Amino acid sequence: MWMMMLIMLLLLVSNGEEVGGSSGEVEDGIISRNLLANGLALTPPMGWNSWNHFQCSIEEKLIRETADAMVSSGLAALGYQYINLDDCWAELNRDSKGNLVPKSSTFPSGIKALANYVHSKGLKLGIYSDAGTRTCSNTMPGSLGHEEQDAKTFASWGVDYLKYDNCFNTGTNPKERYPIMSQALLNSGRPIYFSLCEWGQEQPATWAPKIGNSWRTTGDISDKWESMISCADENDRWASYAAPGGWNDPDMLEVGNGGMTTEEYRAHFSIWALAKAPLLVGCDIRAMDNVTLALLSNKDVISVNQDKLGVQGKKIKKDGDLEVWSGPLSKNRTTVVLWNKGTSSATVIAYWSDLGLNPTAVVKAHDLWTHSIQRGLKGNISANIESHACKMFVLTPQ
Ligand code: GLA
Repeated sequence: MWMMMLIMLLLLVSNGEEVGGSSGEVEDGIISRNLLANGLALTPPMGWNSWNHFQCSIEEKLIRETADAMVSSGLAALGYQYINLDDCWAELNRDSKGNLVPKSSTFPSGIKALANYVHSKGLKLGIYSDAGTRTCSNTMPGSLGHEEQDAKTFASWGVDYLKYDNCFNTGTNPKERYPIMSQALLNSGRPIYFSLCEWGQEQPATWAPKIGNSWRTTGDISDKWESMISCADENDRWASYAAPGGWNDPDMLEVGNGGMTTEEYRAHFSIWALAKAPLLVGCDIRAMDNVTLALLSNKDVISVNQDKLGVQGKKIKKDGDLEVWSGPLSKNRTTVVLWNKGTSSATVIAYWSDLGLNPTAVVKAHDLWTHSIQRGLKGNISANIESHACKMFVLTPQ
C-alpha cells in the first residue's frame, strides 16, 4: 500500500517537471496547469503575419488577398487559420474619445469590415499593439493605460488574436504591464489569443503561461541562417515550460522570403514544428513558389507540431555541428530531427539511449520529408546529411 502511494507520488512529481515546475496536475494522463482561462491554443497557433515580409507596407487589399491565398493555396485546410496584422495599421493619434483609429489611407474600410471578410473565408483575424506609449515603428499609439478600452475595441471589431509588443514601455517591468492586457482581453467577452512579445527579456516562460497563449523567447528573427539557428537555440532553453494553452515563441517563419536555401528553410520549419512553436508564415503567400508551398504544406511535419500531447521537443545531443533534436508524441511515438549544421556533409546518429527509448526496442521510422519508411531498426537511427540540411522522422516501436 505505502509502496503504491510512494510510486504514485513520484509519478506526479516527475510529470509536474514536464511543465517546468508550475502547478501541474495529471488528468486522464494529460498534464494540466493554471492556464489562461480563454481556452485557446491547445495546440500551437498556425497562420500568417505581415511583419517579416511587408513590415509597415500593409493595407487592407493585401490582407484580403492574403486571406484569399490562404484558402486557394490549400494552407487553410491544413490548419493555417490566423491572418495577423502586425505594426502600422493605425493612425498616430487616437480619436477624441481615446479610441484607436485604423489608418484611413491604408485601411479605409476599417478593421471590423476586414475581420468580417477574413471570417467569411473561415479564417481568424489577428491584430497588434504594444505595452507602451507607442508601437515599435513609432507610427501608432501603444495600449499602455488604455488596455480595457483597446481590448473592448478589438473585441467589438471581431479580432481573434493580439500580438502585444514591448517598445516605448516607460521602463516598468513586463510582469506588471502584460497581465493588465491579459485581464482586459478576458473582460472583453471575446476569446482572443494573447501573444506576448517582450523578446524573452524577463524570462517570460517562467510567468507568462498564466496570462498568455505564447511568449516570444528571442529578439527578432531575420531571414538568415545564423539568426534562425540562434532563435532556435535560445527558445530551446525554455522547452519544459511549454504545454497546451501556452507555447514558447522563437518568432515567426521566414520560409519563402529568399534569404536561406531550401535545405535551411526545411530545417527551420522542421525545428519550429518539433519545438511546438507557433507556425506563423512570414512570406507573401500570394506569390509563393512551389518549393515554399511544399515546405509549408507538409502534413506530417504539421501533425508533429499539432500533436495532442503538446510536449516541446528539444536538442538532446550535440557533437560539434551535428545535432539531434527529439521529443515525445502521442501514441507512444517519438519525433527526431537529425541536423547537420556544419559546412560539409556528415553522418548524424541518434542512439535509442539518446532518445529515451528502450535499448532493445525495434522501431519503424517514417521519414517525414521523403515519406519513406524503414522497418526493423535496432539501437539507432542515422543518416548522411548535407550541409545545413536535416532529416525528420517519427519513430514507432513495432
Ligand atoms: C518588434 C517585434 C517584431 C515586430 C516589430 C514591429 O520588433 O519584435 O516582431 O512586431 O516590432 O515594429
